[in-house]
Amino acid sequence: MVTRAPYLKARYSGYHHRHVPQEDTELTHVGPDTPCGEYMRRFWQPICYSDELKDLPIKVKILGEELVAFRDGSGEVGLLELHCPHRGTSLEFGLVGAKGIRCCYHGWLFDCDGTILETPGEPAHSKLKDRLFHGAYPVHEAHGLIFAYLGPPEKMPAFPTYDSFVRPGYRVIPGQKYIYPCNWLQILENTMDAIHTSFLHTIVSGAVFTDEFGVLPELEFMETPVGIIYIATRRIGDNIWSRSVENVLPTLQQVAPIWETGQHEIAFSGPMMSRWIVPIDDTNSMQIELRHVSETPGIVTPDWWADRSVMLPGQMPPDTYEEAQRRPQDFEAQVSQRPIAIHGMEHLGTTDRGITMFRNQIRRGVKAVKAGDDPVGLFHDEDAVIPTYCNNTVVRVPPAKTPELDKKLLRETGRRLAAGYLKAPPLLAAAE
Ligand code: FES
Ligand SMILES: [Fe+2]
Repeated sequence: MVTRAPYLKARYSGYHHRHVPQEDTELTHVGPDTPCGEYMRRFWQPICYSDELKDLPIKVKILGEELVAFRDGSGEVGLLELHCPHRGTSLEFGLVGAKGIRCCYHGWLFDCDGTILETPGEPAHSKLKDRLFHGAYPVHEAHGLIFAYLGPPEKMPAFPTYDSFVRPGYRVIPGQKYIYPCNWLQILENTMDAIHTSFLHTIVSGAVFTDEFGVLPELEFMETPVGIIYIATRRIGDNIWSRSVENVLPTLQQVAPIWETGQHEIAFSGPMMSRWIVPIDDTNSMQIELRHVSETPGIVTPDWWADRSVMLPGQMPPDTYEEAQRRPQDFEAQVSQRPIAIHGMEHLGTTDRGITMFRNQIRRGVKAVKAGDDPVGLFHDEDAVIPTYCNNTVVRVPPAKTPELDKKLLRETGRRLAAGYLKAPPLLAAAE
């Protein structure tokens, strides 16, 4: 339960606000045995890019657990507890071999599934290695990423294939990976925060995206079968530009192209990026991207986006503190909400409805897992292609007679488009 700070109703009342309430632990804590941690563990989560696994193992931390990932000589990928079960040395210093990884300290050898293959220092007749296993998690390699399942073995879901990843005429490429020193939830909430693109990314820091992002949108939010979208509609001359950015439960966000201007009619664009916000622990989160690059004539992906080494603007802090103060961007805005944002000190307004809706979705998922049920967004059919709803759409709809009527028209148009997409998901139709 969230404790709230007092609602200040008088000038100079800072004194009544000197205590900071606790964070909402049910939604933000992800370690072992926490409600949200158990929820998160029911889903496949990316841990690194495939091409990060070379001849050396890599240390990874996810959901508060320290692990080691490696690819052995047979090509198999292992994800094991970081610390050797013998006397605790970190396997990040281990030797990756033809099969498995060998601890550097006394040479115990572990297979990718946790089988202990050799304990060289033990007498030949020792049965120790036949009785004991080292902790291991299942992995799945797809789209240039390594995914892991950290949940109960008997509950492992199918690996989800979203329609945006198997889109004809598009290529999926790995992008950038970066860490924000803050809780995962406030980063994903930012996806539902459509207003910040008009303020933070346009007025405060100059047009980071296109100038049209500076037009304040009319806003709606809609739950989808896999998560939530916002529907931000803007009047651009005789056109209505409807933009939906999406959270796919629990940690995937899909962002529609940021180079859209709304000047020309376009049909459902799909996402430019799918990015997971993977909790490393309660106060650190890894963002790891896949980029969608068009190979369809007439639909152009800018060169910079197809170049993996180029970073999406505004994601990481500048070189100096002064520059961060003068041109704050996503990093400054989200990380400075505190290591874990305190919901009991917020005052949410009408544009924050998507944030409340998303929190409710997470809470329902947490409760479902607690009750022994499958949370929304989990699938068991290996062959299913799962529809997603992120898009820009630009339609020609001339302005209504008055500004008020036009706002209504914008909202209606956005809702109508989104309802149509929910009924007949465009990328799913293309994938089939
Ligand atoms: S600590 Fe790893 S083999 Fe001894
Ligand atoms: Fe942003």
